[in-house]
Amino acid sequence: MSTLRGAPKKGFRAPEIIKDIRPLVHEMRLFKSDAEIAVMRKAAKISCEAHKRAMGFAKAGATEYQLEAELHHHYAMNGARHPAYGTIVGSGNNANILHYTENNDVLKSGDLVLIDSGCELEGYAADITRTFPVSGRFSDAQKQVYELVLKAQQAAFEHVKPGGTLVKANQAAMKVMTQGLIQLGILAGDIDTLMENQACKAFYMHGLGHWLGLDVHDVGEYKLDEADRPFESGMVLTIEPGLYFDEDAEVPDKYKGIGIRIEDDLLVTEDGFENLTADAPKTITEIEALMQH
Ligand code: GLY
Ligand code: MN
Ligand code: MN
Repeated sequence: MSTLRGAPKKGFRAPEIIKDIRPLVHEMRLFKSDAEIAVMRKAAKISCEAHKRAMGFAKAGATEYQLEAELHHHYAMNGARHPAYGTIVGSGNNANILHYTENNDVLKSGDLVLIDSGCELEGYAADITRTFPVSGRFSDAQKQVYELVLKAQQAAFEHVKPGGTLVKANQAAMKVMTQGLIQLGILAGDIDTLMENQACKAFYMHGLGHWLGLDVHDVGEYKLDEADRPFESGMVLTIEPGLYFDEDAEVPDKYKGIGIRIEDDLLVTEDGFENLTADAPKTITEIEALMQH
């Protein structure tokens, strides 16, 4: 620019308008082409297999970093040279530390492990969270919370279709969690008031999801003209509700130290969605079956 501005006699002419092309590029990144979808399916598949591998490896006495190594080995062996973000392997109360990446504790029987990990393939990210018991069997209290988070995720999924919004999906998830927390004796009061006060946020302190693509938290507007942006086919996003009961939380003792998140990557289609990460075991039955082997 200064060269152009500095030499008018040479016939140079500097542009008068500088335009930020990011909004244009961000829109292009938000809507995936068939070629991009093919890569994202593959990144998701490799990441699902890696989660299965980590579940199969988990046992009392193993370490969080060994589970991380299992995941990263599987990524690298399948041509995904890097994780898409710092892998989280949080066992026991570590699952309640949202951005825990120390991954240096020993797994204990009776604890859950939360793994949030995905590979990057040809630039595209996968982002999966699964939570499972070290022993291979959920306790009754763990089951109750797990089923609740899973039900919340299902409720959110119903809004993932053209015309749905992330905000509506989140409201649906929060309603399920709030009702469940009342049943578990963790929240008390009238459902409408609790929803209005966002009471469940004490145990669900993050957003429901985000755009996914070249970045794990990908670019793209979440609002259009102040309104919540409706989903359109070709978008890819995560849906990742969670409930976290720290050791010090004011909840019945049996729930203390339980932290659960379930995260999948969804491609919005013409009439709903395709779950790109459906291959990672998710129901209690699927997880317990895999871990018996
Ligand atoms: N792994 C980062 C996230 O779930 O948003
Ligand atoms: Mn995510
Ligand atoms: Mn994640």
